[in-house]
Order: sequence, then structure tokens, then C-alpha cells
Amino acid sequence: MSDKIFIGVAWPYANGSLHLGHIAGCYLPADIFARYNRMKDRDVLMVSGSDEHGTPITITAENEKTTPQAIVDRYNNEHTENMNQLGISFDLFTRTTTMNHKAVVQGIFSTLYEKGHIYKKSIDAFYCETCSRFLPDRYLEGTCPYCHHEKARGDQCDSCGKLIDASELGDVRCKLCGGTPIKRTTDHLFFALSKFEPKLLQWIKEKKHWKANVLKFTHNWLKNGLQDRAITRDMTWGIPVPIPGFENKRIYVWFDAVIGYFAASKEWSQKQGKPSNWEQWWKNKDAKHYYFLAKDNIPFHSIIWPSILMGYDESLNLPYDIPANEYLCLSGEQFSKSRSVAIWLPDILKKFDPDAVRYYLSINMPENKDSNWLWNDFVAKNNDELVGTYGNFVHRVITFTQKNFATIPKKGKLTDLDREALKTIEEASKEVGDSIEHCKFKKGLRAAMNLAQFGNFYFDQNQPWKLLKTDRERCNNVLYICFKLVKALAVFTAPYLPSSSDSIWKMLGYTDTIKSWEDALSELQEGTPLEKPAPLFKKLVLEDIVEAPDPFSKLDLRVAKIIDVKDHPQADKLYVMQLDLGPLGERTIVAGMKPYYSKEELSGKSIVIVTNLKPATIRGIESKGMLLAAEDDQGIVTLLNPKDATPGAEIYVEGIPREPASVLEFDAFKQAALIIGEKQEATYNGKPLKSKNNTVVTDKRVKKGANIH
Ligand code: MF3
Ligand code: ZN
Repeated sequence: MSDKIFIGVAWPYANGSLHLGHIAGCYLPADIFARYNRMKDRDVLMVSGSDEHGTPITITAENEKTTPQAIVDRYNNEHTENMNQLGISFDLFTRTTTMNHKAVVQGIFSTLYEKGHIYKKSIDAFYCETCSRFLPDRYLEGTCPYCHHEKARGDQCDSCGKLIDASELGDVRCKLCGGTPIKRTTDHLFFALSKFEPKLLQWIKEKKHWKANVLKFTHNWLKNGLQDRAITRDMTWGIPVPIPGFENKRIYVWFDAVIGYFAASKEWSQKQGKPSNWEQWWKNKDAKHYYFLAKDNIPFHSIIWPSILMGYDESLNLPYDIPANEYLCLSGEQFSKSRSVAIWLPDILKKFDPDAVRYYLSINMPENKDSNWLWNDFVAKNNDELVGTYGNFVHRVITFTQKNFATIPKKGKLTDLDREALKTIEEASKEVGDSIEHCKFKKGLRAAMNLAQFGNFYFDQNQPWKLLKTDRERCNNVLYICFKLVKALAVFTAPYLPSSSDSIWKMLGYTDTIKSWEDALSELQEGTPLEKPAPLFKKLVLEDIVEAPDPFSKLDLRVAKIIDVKDHPQADKLYVMQLDLGPLGERTIVAGMKPYYSKEELSGKSIVIVTNLKPATIRGIESKGMLLAAEDDQGIVTLLNPKDATPGAEIYVEGIPREPASVLEFDAFKQAALIIGEKQEATYNGKPLKSKNNTVVTDKRVKKGANIH
């Protein structure tokens, strides 16, 4: 293994919080690898930063009615802080909006242009005459050619997930003004990717050590032949194009971001006060470059970035390995910001210790196939493995020794069993180390945990609590071996669980941090006084973590249109109504509205009903649902009015997922207390009920606080 290791980690877009999918996908594996290699005394340079340009940022800014700068400042701050809290040990986490980055990107761009790897070409692009601008893909909306979803984006359909070429969209609209854009000719700069194909093929042929998924994604791109790619965009947010005539365009965000790896290495060297230090990683042929990223980023790192490097300067190092992970899923679904399927890092860090999170993400890492974050499994693995096996072993050894001997045991006469134990430690050192070396992080941690299990087994088998009375010397020798195991475990888990490893290190009498992998086998600081140890990990209780679902989420509230009203033959105050629920069909309900509304007032009206209540037979007629009305303490009763929403439309409250029960008990309905808030609006927990962005109001004025039932 070379002694210079460069680690590039994908740059997260600074347009939203990080979630656990990001962490399991690349930041944690990169950090484990970096920490291990530093312990092996290799010079590691690990860099990344916020990806702050491109339409992902400008669209978020527009949605939040603020500036791109405000968005990237907010999330760069948050990401930096979160990475620190989780212990991701970057040498530099910078951003793509620095002066340095801009200068390096423009320099590479100009060189590629001069060398003829970038050329000008006219293309037909969508132009909005109302907004007086060309529209990048993400600013286009239209009908998806595959699933006919009406709001497909210019680059992808969120409904069916297919990638789209904007010119395939039906009924194309400008996302900014809703108008119909026209095609207009404009110049763009293209990167001559196709020219690099033969060289790339040759280079990839040697990459026998790449993971199967990385080779697969890469070959999928190569299979159809490489296309030259436009690397300028019609935007004002981004790095200006350093070529005359392109003042109104910006460099494409992906072209800018991948260069970040190189620019950040230079920035780091500047900050070290040795501006040419980066060359030791980039120009030294023995240095190895590793790139950690999630699988959707593979071709940018296995094809585009190497081509840029080849075109720019032959003497720069190309990626050695790209150990990309698969996805971490949440109950079988891929984490996704747009569909709000996610566990957000800021939330998780508020609730749990970093090592507990790092443990579960490591032992459950989506290395070769997607894996799932399951709350019950998180709790079980934390309690059984981290607390029950590892924490317990360390704790019982140190507590018992502190109480009965007060200091770290001295080496004594060893039995065969003891020598066996020492050999087990040596083997573990090799197994954990080799696994991490080959980016098999799950396997490495499993091997360390097996050693903890072995420790418990050794302790139980030798019964030091009995030896204490019968053979104090032998008791000391057993504890000596146990301490050797504790020390080795602290070292082996240090790349994964840096904070608890550090705590153990302090317990072992060291004042510095763990520095070297070889420390696992070195001698103990015999005779050091021990203190009563604090537990390393906390037990978790599932019920405290997983919140009960919001009662409102169980309701299926819909807009219904009254198509017919009749008197109930058996009751004075009841009507029998026929309702239209659009795609859900028609149904009959019985309701006590006769004292408050005439039949004429009701027919043709839109109301709100609970569709999933258990059907009830009211005076001989079955009612399939219940309409919602408000009643205040003056006895005023008024129907909820969904305004012009269409029959069958869902009524929702923002932030509460709709997970209607198949059959809703009346008691469960009552748990979701609906009341009238400001402006006659129906509310739940202070938030308005809505259908298609309209709030639901009442027909007549009732007092604020009136109950809805
Ligand atoms: N921001 C991109 C994403 O989140 C990743 C960029 S990685 C880099 O998908 F290579 F461009 F740095
Ligand atoms: Zn427009």
C-alpha cells in the first residue's frame, strides 16, 4: 500500500439537510477508510465540500423566495456542523463558491478549450419570450411521454422516475411563468467526451478491482458510445465561462463540482502554508486516489472526471478505486428529499450519540445491495451488540478490576488458553485491517465484534469472580488478558466508533488519542490506577423513539358533491343523501342536517366527508361515511366548505402523511380533534385543512374554536 492516499467524497448539494442515506452512501465509509489509513501511518488527504451551483440551488431559492446565496450559506453551515458532530474527519470541507475554486475551474476550462477539447456548437433550446430567457431543463415542465404525468420536469419525471429529454415533453411550459416557450438557436460549449473513449476503455480494462456495480454503471455508459456534452448553461448563478461571447452563460454544475477535488487539494495546501503540497498526491505515481459516492454519481467519477483530467494534464493521477455503495432505504423505499422519505441528520444527531448511529450504519452498510434503516433493528443492534456485547465486556472487565485490584494488571504466567487469546487478537488485527483496506467495512466491524464476543466468552470461562477467592494470581493473569482484549478492541473499532474508542483509551491511562493500528498489540500501561468507568453506550427503548402516528393521518377525508337529497322515511331530522366522489364513485350517507339546511340549499353543494368510518345503519338505512360540520356554543351548525375542489379530492394537513386506516373506528376519529380557527378555517393542531392548496372554510360564521364533527 502506498503511503499517500487521496480520498475524494461526493460534494453534497447545499440545498437541503443531509439524511442518513447520504451518510451510509459515502461520508461514513470514507471516514472509516481515512481513519484507518491514518492509523496505518499513511498520509491521507480527504476533501469534499458543498456543491453550491446549478439548478438544484436556484430552484430551491425560488421555491423559498430567497436568494441562491442565502440557501447555500444556510446549508453549507449546517452540513459542516453536522459532519463535525458525526465525526467525519475531513482534512478540508470547503465550498464551490470560493475564489480558489472559481480560479481553478476557469483555468482548467480555458486549458481544455485551448487544447481543442472544448468546442462551440449551435443548438435549438427552449426560450421563454415572457421571461426573456433560455430555460435549462429543470425550468421546463410538461407531459411525460412515458406515464403522461402532466408535471414532468425537463430532465426527469418524478411520477415514473424515467429520465427525459426536454424535447420529448408534451405541452411544454415555462416553470417560471407558465407560458409556452419557443425553440431558439443558441451557442453552447461542448466537452469532447467522445474523443476520450479509446483511452478510457484502455484505462478501465485494468480496473479489475472495481466493485461490480461500479463496472456495471460505467459499462452501461460506454456501451452506447460516449456523446459530447454541453458544459455551459443559460443561467446567472454559477461560474462564469472564461471564453468571450459566453458572458451570459455559466459553467454546468457537474463540470464545476468534480473539479472541486483538485481545487480543494490546492486550497488545503495553501492553508498548510505549503502551496505545492498537493503535488505529492496528484503528481506522485505511487499515490492512490479513492472516490466515495452514491451509485447515481458513478459515471461522473468513472468517465467524466477522468476524461477532464486526461485532457487537462496527463501527469495527474486518475481514480484508483471508486467503492460506491448502493442505497440505504427506509422501509423499502429509497431516501428522497422530494418525496420526504428521509431521516434527517440534524434530527438524528439531536436524539442519539454519534457512535450509536455510526455503528448501525456500518454494520448495516449498503455495500453490495440496498439495505434498510429499520428502527426496531437499530434499537436491537444497539442494545444487543453495542451495549450487550461490546460495551458490556469493556465495562465488566474495568469495573471488576478497578474494584478488586485498583490498577491495570501486570503480565503474569500465561496458560495455553491465554496464548490462544493473544493469538486471537493478532488474527483479528489482520482480519479487521484487511477488510477495511479492501473497503469491506461491514466485514471489518463484524470481525471486531466477534472479538468482543470472544472476550465475554473468555471472561465467563475463566470466572475471575471465583478466582478472586481461590487464586488471586491467576485472577490477575486472566484480567491481564481481558485488558489486552479491551485495548485491541478500542483500536479495531476506532475507525468506526471514534468517540467510544477514545473513552476507552482514557480509561487505559493514555492522555493522547489512538494513533496507530499497531497499538492494538503493544503492551499495557501496567499499574496505572483505574477509575470507576462510565458506561460507553446507552440502551435505547423503541417506544421512546418511534412516535405513534398522528391520529389525523388515519382519517380519509374527501370532497364530495351532493347530487340528491331525500327525507329519511323513518326520522324527522335526517336526510338521506346521494354523493358523488369523482373517481371513488357514488355513495349514500345519512346525516342530521334537516334542522339547519333545506334540500335546495344542499343539492349541488360540495362538502367534506370521512369516507373510511365503519358503515353504520341509521334507522334502517346504511350510511357509508359522515359529513363534517362545525358547531359552536351558540348552537350554530354549518357545513365545511371545500370551495371549488373537485369531487373525490383528498383533504390533507401539510406535514402529516396520509395513511388512512382501512376501517376507522369512531373512537379513532374522535382522537383527531378538528376545530375552527382564524378566518372560518377548519384546522387540526393549528394547521389548516387543505385540498389542492385551498383551505377548507365554513358556510356560515361560527365562533373560533367551534368543534367539527
Ligand atoms: N452534488 C452532487 C449530488 O449530490 C454530487 C457531486 S459530486 C462531485 O448528487 F463530484 F461533483 F463533486
Ligand atoms: Zn416564462
